[in-house]
Amino acid sequence: MAKKVILTADRPTGKLHIGHYLGSLKNRVALQNSDDYQTYVMIADVQALTDNARDPEKIRRSLIQVALDYLAVGIDPAKSTILVQSQIPALNELTMYYLDLVNVSRLERNPTVKAEIKQKAFGQSIPAGFLVYPVSQTADITAFKADTVPVGDDQEPMMEQAREIVRTFNTTYKTDVLVEPQGYFPPKGQGRLPGLDGNAKMSKSLDNCIYLADTADELKKRVMSMYTDPDHIHVSDPGKVEGNMVFTYLDAFDTDKDKVAELKAEYQHGGLGDVKIKRYLNDVLEGVFGPIRERREEYAKDIPAVYEMLRQGSQKANEVAEQTLQEVRDAIGINYFK
Ligand code: TRP
Repeated sequence: MAKKVILTADRPTGKLHIGHYLGSLKNRVALQNSDDYQTYVMIADVQALTDNARDPEKIRRSLIQVALDYLAVGIDPAKSTILVQSQIPALNELTMYYLDLVNVSRLERNPTVKAEIKQKAFGQSIPAGFLVYPVSQTADITAFKADTVPVGDDQEPMMEQAREIVRTFNTTYKTDVLVEPQGYFPPKGQGRLPGLDGNAKMSKSLDNCIYLADTADELKKRVMSMYTDPDHIHVSDPGKVEGNMVFTYLDAFDTDKDKVAELKAEYQHGGLGDVKIKRYLNDVLEGVFGPIRERREEYAKDIPAVYEMLRQGSQKANEVAEQTLQEVRDAIGINYFK
């Protein structure tokens, strides 16, 4: 049976954090290492530019950081094709053809885009490229004929829009060249790691992240600053574990579930201090992210080699996307000189 094709992507607007690891990167490595899938991992710099066009240096800087994060967690260029979106010209051309198959009001109705527009406070100056990025994303997915797209819940509207475009294309041009993709969502309640401060989301702007690149000292400082139970003042006080980030993170990263259950009981009963439990969490996180950090530092010693890896991945991806583009042109009937 043909392998399933997976595409995942990240916008390079900063370093990746342990929330990305839990919600996405870890799973990508598992998929890459199973024999059932062919995996593409894309650094979506074109998409990142849709709201950062005036700060390309940020994208350029972040691109290499994201590539290092990938390599550090075990995304392996021998198994996954790691590509840079801007280096695949066919994506732009596909986007152009798909744009003619969606109408503006449909784009304006996309709930994720709507929420982002509000959050980014564009006012009256929404970049046209931003409004249409779901169409560009459909080009990303279809260029590689990806049938499976692991994404967060917020990307459901993107997948819906991608399927609509695929169906419209295939019906309009009486073809089956485009493959309808399915989102692959994290199990309910398991998707998102909250921030250190208890905010629902880890985000750079809230300064509540632990980055994969953080040093052991930074990690420790971050853990020591975590939001716990504000009413747990004395060690002997009974404490709450719900909404207490230390226990949320232990649930997420400690594989010793019996130990976690024991610690929770002790904390709830009273007698387990925040400093002690944070030290324990720090050890757990160090166990998971220490080796990742070390690998990251190794790769960071040879940045030209990382660029070369990206160049080769992009070249390989380019051949696949170019092939799809030719099929799309054939389907539309604009390969005049063939
Ligand atoms: N929009 C995605 C995000 O913000 C990134 C992305 C770009 C993507 N192109 C994609 C995801 C194609 C899946 C498939 O995370």
